[in-house]
Amino acid sequence: MATNTRSAGRARGGTCYRRVAPSSPVTQVLPSPAPGGIGGFQGAETAISAEPLPLHPAAVRVSSARAALARVLWMVKPTRVYVPDWICDTVLGPVRQSGAEVVRVPLGLDLLPIELPTPGEDELLLLLNAFGLAGQRVAAAAGLGSRLLVDATQALYQPPPSGCWGIASVRKFLGVPDGAMLWSPRAITAPSTSQEAVSTAHLVARAAGDPGALELYRRNEAALSTDYVGPSPASDNLLDRIDHAQVRARRLRNVRVLHDRLKAHNQLALPDEWPSGVVPLAYPFLPSPSLPHTALYARQIWAPCLWPERRDDAEAHPLTRRLARELLPLPCDQRYDAVHMHHIADVVCAAS
Ligand SMILES: Cc1ncc(COP(=O)(O)O)c(C=O)c1O
Repeated sequence: MATNTRSAGRARGGTCYRRVAPSSPVTQVLPSPAPGGIGGFQGAETAISAEPLPLHPAAVRVSSARAALARVLWMVKPTRVYVPDWICDTVLGPVRQSGAEVVRVPLGLDLLPIELPTPGEDELLLLLNAFGLAGQRVAAAAGLGSRLLVDATQALYQPPPSGCWGIASVRKFLGVPDGAMLWSPRAITAPSTSQEAVSTAHLVARAAGDPGALELYRRNEAALSTDYVGPSPASDNLLDRIDHAQVRARRLRNVRVLHDRLKAHNQLALPDEWPSGVVPLAYPFLPSPSLPHTALYARQIWAPCLWPERRDDAEAHPLTRRLARELLPLPCDQRYDAVHMHHIADVVCAAS
């Protein structure tokens, strides 16, 4: 990959930030380093709406997506579930536990199933809307009705078609300690109790760049389970108060900067223009040659590994193992703007 020669200024904490020439379309010099680096788990939300609007009023709210999934499986009792080969154990766990046969569906470089299976009457197809890019495939499968379950965790603002099942974990997208959406094609009873074991401490610590935030985050994660309980009151309230229009707009603007800068180096088969309306969890970047996550961590850019448990999974499709090792989901969330995105692109280009 060509080395990027844009100039960069060294900011406090050793992190390099790009200084922008006056003629550049980006007119701002990064005012201060992003506390705690760029990316990683969400911090406390700053974009609060003056006019609260319920997020996904058609969905039932649950504390975690694994609990929502376990509920779907409990209600449907499928004999077989088709699951994406590239998925985390947090999702596979409830499916295995349900006793259903698990059939893994390999994905291609477009992150869509290479071949879409047709589930039988007592079967379920779990489609992952990977980074929101599977919208058309999801729409095309809508005719499956209640045999289709869409996982919108990486595309929170793209709910499943009506008449289908859907789940989405929200805390990866938004600064809340827990919470998940559960869309049901039939009448469903909402959880009668709320999650009480989570805390917002890590969100505040993360926003402040406090190094203790990670430990607090891990503690919070450990509190989540497959129990069918509602989200904590903090999450439930925040979800309706966050300025989702601003979150959407920022993510979309940011992902477009990254795609424009990096698409020529991206081995994934993505559309030339990032589609409007696709608001992703992160920008999926598969560089060639591969770039270790640690090269980004050295510059305080936190791109997660999705998913370490698939790296050496002997049963996994070769592309699944490659995605698990090499995919860099680059942060593009609402905490950041174009200056941060150019910085990420500069770091990636310089490190390659
Ligand atoms: C794609 C996807 N779906 C579902 C889940 C489960 O979400 P939760 O942690 O809220 O149970 C995860 C969690 O890692 C995920 O990555």
